[in-house]
Amino acid sequence: SSGTDRELRAPICCILGHVDAGKTKLLDCIRHSNVQGVEAGGITQQIGATYLPVENIRERTSLKAEATIKVPGLLVIDTPGHQSFSNMRLRGSSLCDVAVVVVDITQGLEKQTIESIGLLKRRDVKFVVALNKVDRLYGWKTCPNAPIVKALKSQSDDVQREFKWRVAEVVTQLKECGFNSALYYENKKIKEVVNIVPTSAVSGEGIPDLLLLLVRWVPEIMMEKLTYADTVECTVLEVNEVKEFGTTIDVVLINGALKKGDQIVVCTKQGPVTTSIRHLLTPYPLKELRAKGSYERHEELKAAQGVKIVARGVQHALAGTSLIVVKPGHDLEQAEAAAMQEIDNAINPSNENERGKNEDETEVKEISRIQTCKEGVYVQASSLGTLEAIIEHLKTLSLDVPVSGCNLGPVHKQDVMKATAMLKRKEEYAAILAFDVKVMPEAFELAVESGVKIFVADTVYKLVDSFTDHIKKLKK
Ligand code: GTP
Ligand code: MG
Ligand code: NA
Repeated sequence: SSGTDRELRAPICCILGHVDAGKTKLLDCIRHSNVQGVEAGGITQQIGATYLPVENIRERTSLKAEATIKVPGLLVIDTPGHQSFSNMRLRGSSLCDVAVVVVDITQGLEKQTIESIGLLKRRDVKFVVALNKVDRLYGWKTCPNAPIVKALKSQSDDVQREFKWRVAEVVTQLKECGFNSALYYENKKIKEVVNIVPTSAVSGEGIPDLLLLLVRWVPEIMMEKLTYADTVECTVLEVNEVKEFGTTIDVVLINGALKKGDQIVVCTKQGPVTTSIRHLLTPYPLKELRAKGSYERHEELKAAQGVKIVARGVQHALAGTSLIVVKPGHDLEQAEAAAMQEIDNAINPSNENERGKNEDETEVKEISRIQTCKEGVYVQASSLGTLEAIIEHLKTLSLDVPVSGCNLGPVHKQDVMKATAMLKRKEEYAAILAFDVKVMPEAFELAVESGVKIFVADTVYKLVDSFTDHIKKLKK
């Protein structure tokens, strides 16, 4: 069919890059929000999805009303840049249509920039580079929210010279990663050469350019992929505890529609779990799925969207796997068999053909399987992703702290009971590392009585540090 009568879904765009490159700040600038300012330690520790409706994009780009935008919006996925969160970068990059790799112009490509580019290369995901923090060039004259070419024209010769050599540097570094690149407004081969868009997330220069490029270039290069289809394609992004609902799963609905009451099958280590959707929630437009707060309830949702699903029995869902919908009249057995296959692939990644030919340098596991052993600490967190990040971080320490058990949600008495088992086996591990969860008063009391130490902190790094400090003191 012709390109005009198709219904396109929103492209899913993943934001990747090194710590502090400005990923969250860029999104804040686009949303007029302040997520970054309230993050503990200024670092992102969760994967988040935000829907940017086309009206918002029109406003930010000052597009004329008659100018057509073929997509209904953009679904943007923010990821953390810190090393231990490679699980979330992997998940974001696995399900997106395109990516924005954010690079700090004053730093060039850094460790996690290169890791991120490796992930995209492996899946052949097209990306643009946001060359951020241009306002940090010495002597930069601020031109709030201006298109970048206009902003550059107002700069002194010195600034323009510095800008040019820094761009050249990044072009060289990208070349070393195997990509030809060019400033997007000088790029004549937009299908082959990576576009670079200079931006400032603080004063907004280049933001209109970035948004325009995404809504125009993306449908152009992947019209087919973005065509709305009824067949549900849906990936589990996170499993988390939400106060009023209990265990929920955050999913990205890539294609098709979800309805309240739909029968669904999720993948768990123990096998497929069949349940039904009790509530279908989204954050309000321009708000993030990870933000704690109020959600909009829906009867039905069409792709692409970041969705929070409330359903019984989903607490062991494996992040990164598919959620399968069994529509009335469809075969449940077939859905469960498909889920089983996916569980197999997730648990024994070597079984999958595709992975056999992966000669890539990136060392990110498909599904980071949580491994526990008999002697180790107990870890508790609000989401599966952070649980994995904490365990990952513990592993990379010179101390190499093993984990004996873990759980999602508030620390209850039962959790402390489990941790007390270490008092006899290995006392230093009689500890609970609790991240972003409440410690119930009875749990706290039992811990004090029994001698189990509970550590709490608002960043994964502080949490692990306070535990290791404790171990070091014990050893002295
Ligand atoms: P992680 O999520 O922790 O990986 O970091 P991030 O890439 O999301 O970076 P974040 O948005 O947290 O920004 C890091 C710091 O850089 C913050 O202090 C921001 O205010 C600052 N920053 C981000 N973008 C810009 C920019 O364009 N110009 C200037 N001057 N500062 C920026
Ligand atoms: Mg961030
Ligand atoms: Na940061």
